[in-house]
Amino acid sequence: MEAPACWTLMAVLAALVAGSTACPHYCICDNIQGTVTCMKQQLTEIPTTIPEATKHLDIRGNNIDRVTTGAFLPIPYLTHLNLQKCNINHLHEGAFRGLGRLRSLNLGFNNIEFIYQETFDGLYSLQQLIIDNNKIEEIKPGAFAQLGSLNVLNLEGNFLVYLPPLLFQGLQQIKYMRLSKNMINNIADEAFAGLWTLKRLSLDSNELQYLPTEALSRLTAVAKLDLSQNPMTYLGEEVFRMRSLKHLMMNDMSLQDVLLTAFLHSPKLSVVEFRNNQLQVIQPLEGVESLRTINLTGNPIQCNCFMRPFREWMANRTKLKAEVLCHGPGRYEGERLDSLRPVDLRCDSRPLDKEEEELSLVNKPATNNQKGRPCPDHCDCQHDLQHSSCEGKGLRKIPKGFPPDSHLLDMRFNDLRFIPRGSFSGMKQLVSLHLQNCNIHHLNTGAFRGLRNLIYLYLSSNEINSLQPEIFEGLPELTYLYLDHNRLTSIPKGAFRLLPNLFALHLEYNTIPQLTDDNMEGAEKLRRLHLTGNNLTYVSPTALRPSGQLQKLFLDENKLTEVPTVALMGMSALDELKLSRNPIKQIESGAFLPVKGLLQHLWLNNLGLEKISDGAFDGVDEQMQSLYLENNQLSYIPSLENFRNLHTIDLSNNPWDCDCPLLPLRRWLKSSNLKVRAVCSLPRNVTGVSVKDAPFKNCKGNLPKKNQASTKKRKASRTGVVRKTVNRKKLKGSRVGME
Ligand SMILES: *[C@@H]1O[C@H](CO)[C@@H](O)[C@H](O)[C@H]1NC(C)=O
Ligand SMILES: *[C@@H]1O[C@H](CO)[C@@H](O)[C@H](O)[C@H]1NC(C)=O
Ligand SMILES: *[C@@H]1O[C@H](CO)[C@@H](O)[C@H](O)[C@H]1NC(C)=O
Ligand SMILES: *[C@@H]1O[C@H](CO)[C@@H](O)[C@H](O)[C@H]1NC(C)=O
Repeated sequence: MEAPACWTLMAVLAALVAGSTACPHYCICDNIQGTVTCMKQQLTEIPTTIPEATKHLDIRGNNIDRVTTGAFLPIPYLTHLNLQKCNINHLHEGAFRGLGRLRSLNLGFNNIEFIYQETFDGLYSLQQLIIDNNKIEEIKPGAFAQLGSLNVLNLEGNFLVYLPPLLFQGLQQIKYMRLSKNMINNIADEAFAGLWTLKRLSLDSNELQYLPTEALSRLTAVAKLDLSQNPMTYLGEEVFRMRSLKHLMMNDMSLQDVLLTAFLHSPKLSVVEFRNNQLQVIQPLEGVESLRTINLTGNPIQCNCFMRPFREWMANRTKLKAEVLCHGPGRYEGERLDSLRPVDLRCDSRPLDKEEEELSLVNKPATNNQKGRPCPDHCDCQHDLQHSSCEGKGLRKIPKGFPPDSHLLDMRFNDLRFIPRGSFSGMKQLVSLHLQNCNIHHLNTGAFRGLRNLIYLYLSSNEINSLQPEIFEGLPELTYLYLDHNRLTSIPKGAFRLLPNLFALHLEYNTIPQLTDDNMEGAEKLRRLHLTGNNLTYVSPTALRPSGQLQKLFLDENKLTEVPTVALMGMSALDELKLSRNPIKQIESGAFLPVKGLLQHLWLNNLGLEKISDGAFDGVDEQMQSLYLENNQLSYIPSLENFRNLHTIDLSNNPWDCDCPLLPLRRWLKSSNLKVRAVCSLPRNVTGVSVKDAPFKNCKGNLPKKNQASTKKRKASRTGVVRKTVNRKKLKGSRVGME
């Protein structure tokens, strides 16, 4: 009697613990641990009789075609769910509804094609989502909107091609994202918007032909980025704008050129891997003070004079470990670059001497290996890299017969004179076209027709003096246009309507005298406009109106006599303005008001500037980070107390008058921890004394002369110069600076 009662009681308890359901006979259940395993049972649907209290459910290796809405409602306590290799084709909307405690979901190695907006509804606690090796082509933006706890998202090995804007919206705690081994070739500027916490991103083995600069710049916390095995050939100017980036991998790519400012805006970069690329030369990199390792093994580096600047740069950085092996010329093959002295890196001047011969031999095999593939005479076509080059061959016309899949065509240093219509027809895949230094006077209408994938067009250093508005017909993707160092006397109005994707326009060092009404018509996506070194005397009030997204405007080395204030109206993103070396004598009150709250870098050096009105920096002082005023004729400057975010200011070479009106400057200098050179020119008996140390004798409210930190602290904070948080540090800095 007693034993059966006891059994009954235990059965009741077990049922309570496990929920009321028994373990399906084809599964293994551990009701104490709350685990149920039903691996490889040829199940065709999610079992319906799993004990309710189950926490871990493993159904790997079955044959479940679809997961229907609410399939897991009977087992709401799940924390881990493994559905790997189940031949799943469809996840219905709301498939995981009710799993508010689920932390880990593995859907790897199935046949899932679509992720709907509501597929992952209700997974509030999910930390790890693995959907690798499926067939996902499309994910609806918003699909991850409810996954606010997710740390890890793995989408490796799918068929993603395009990442639309706001795709990852809602992933507020994401740390690591794997998008490797997809077919991604296009990433919307806002695709990664909102991923504030992402630390690590893998985008390797995709189809990216150029760096998605804008999209990546949204990833403000990413420290490690893998872009290896993408078919990129170039890293252009300032393309990386990732302020937390420390470790960058770009191995096994087709990189042929890395411009020296590529990393200017990624100051924390510490490790760069460029293994197995096609770099023959690399320039010193600007702005990478934290760089410790750069790995260039597996590149055809030519240790000649072009590598000398890099070698010198390496030598100056004792903490930098640079792994560079010479591939040529012959006598240095296999040597480490750091075992050679800068003077060993030579180029002989005569074009066909031994060294050049060696060089050309080194370059030959790649060309000759692939007989039977097209390549014009005098040119080298590296078929595997999709690069074609006829650089410096004295060509008078553009040859025909390049491989139709060429991505890069280098025609620099030829004698082309003009570019006839249809010169590049058939080169539909060209991404980058180099026509610098070709003595080009004229571009015929239709010259670039058919280059529908062209992104970079280099026409620098030619003799072009005018452009027909239709000239850029057929270049819908063009993003970077270089027309610097030519003889242009005007910007052809309307030309940019044909270039809807234009991002950077280089017109520096031409002789353009003015910007006329709506001059930039059609250039709506333009972010950088380079007009340095022209002959500009006038910018019409509406000249720049069509380019309201402009971020960088370079008007330095021109003949402007005033700040083009009205022309700045309507700019909603301008953060850098260069006006250096224009004959501007005075900055009027409110000169930068149209870009209120936006401007961060302002260049007003070498203007002959005599006067800055009070209120000149109204609206732009608070967020200003760098201000250049050196080499002017300033004796006075209004108080800088509102410049709370300055990290660079240059006031040198101005005849400062160290009399009472300048006292606010002196106070500001005393309380700031910036190193600023400003020297008094007047009064006569303090000439040559730095403003900071000048006596300002007869001025009311003068500061006590010797160190009395406590009084100083009070005064400094009263002037409002220092923000609360950095107050102590700044004061400390300034004291140290004085001692
Ligand atoms: C550079 O990469 C090579 C492999 O390609 C590796 O053997 C070497 O250790 C790396 N060097 C550094 C400094 O990371
Ligand atoms: C290296 O430092 C020397 C002086 O120490 C300087 O003259 C030279 O310009 C520097 N080179 C580079 C490439 O930074
Ligand atoms: C630049 O403009 C001035 C007039 O402002 C003109 O005299 C001069 O010839 C121009 N220079 C060039 C190179 O066009
Ligand atoms: C400079 O001259 C003024 C009077 O012109 C005088 O009051 C002041 O003490 C002098 N300062 C120095 C540092 O000699």
